[in-house]
Amino acid sequence: MTRKVAILISGGGSNMVSLVRSMTGDHPARPVLVLSNRPDAGGLQKAADLGITTAVVDHKPYGTDREGFEAEVTAAIEAAGADLVCLAGFMRVLTPYFVGHWSGRMLNIHPSLLPKYKGLHTHARALDAGDAEHGCSVHEVTAELDGGPILGQARLPVLPGDTPDTLAARVLPLEHQLYPAVLRRYATGDRTPILLSAANA
Ligand code: GAR
Repeated sequence: MTRKVAILISGGGSNMVSLVRSMTGDHPARPVLVLSNRPDAGGLQKAADLGITTAVVDHKPYGTDREGFEAEVTAAIEAAGADLVCLAGFMRVLTPYFVGHWSGRMLNIHPSLLPKYKGLHTHARALDAGDAEHGCSVHEVTAELDGGPILGQARLPVLPGDTPDTLAARVLPLEHQLYPAVLRRYATGDRTPILLSAANA
């Protein structure tokens, strides 16, 4: 059975592009929707250029009504027929309602070696801590922010002179390898973690 994937973005959508491009040939999933909470997200045009249906659910009119916003997002995902959700730079904190609805069917990529540095400013925090290694993680989404079971990690060495920007620029290509690799495996029901390092990524 081919899985149908909705990809949720808020920004440039480079991870979304790598996921979409990976879902060809004998891949067990296909992209059916790219949805953004920001009408101006750069990734929307990239998705349209790739021939993927796009949708916008702007969170702003909902104010503090997070569940109202999420109900609209869920309706759009279900209208597209998706049964898997990939968060790819989707910068909204999710309520237990939304997480529960998509439990076991929703993945996220986070730019740190979880459980380190949940939340924001991950590259700066890794540098401030003097870490020798940094990277990214793909995990199942649970009610705990960036806290669900880890499905894959990619790591690289922190170099002398690294800044948050240089680290981010080296982590992002690793994200583009890790997320498609995890999705391909996960879409078949295999949750065995994938471990990559810059040397073999
Ligand atoms: C990526 O680095 C992703 O890991 C991060 O946002 C960026 C989105 O880039 N996600 C988070 O920080 C989630 N907490 P993209 O739009 O080019 O894929």
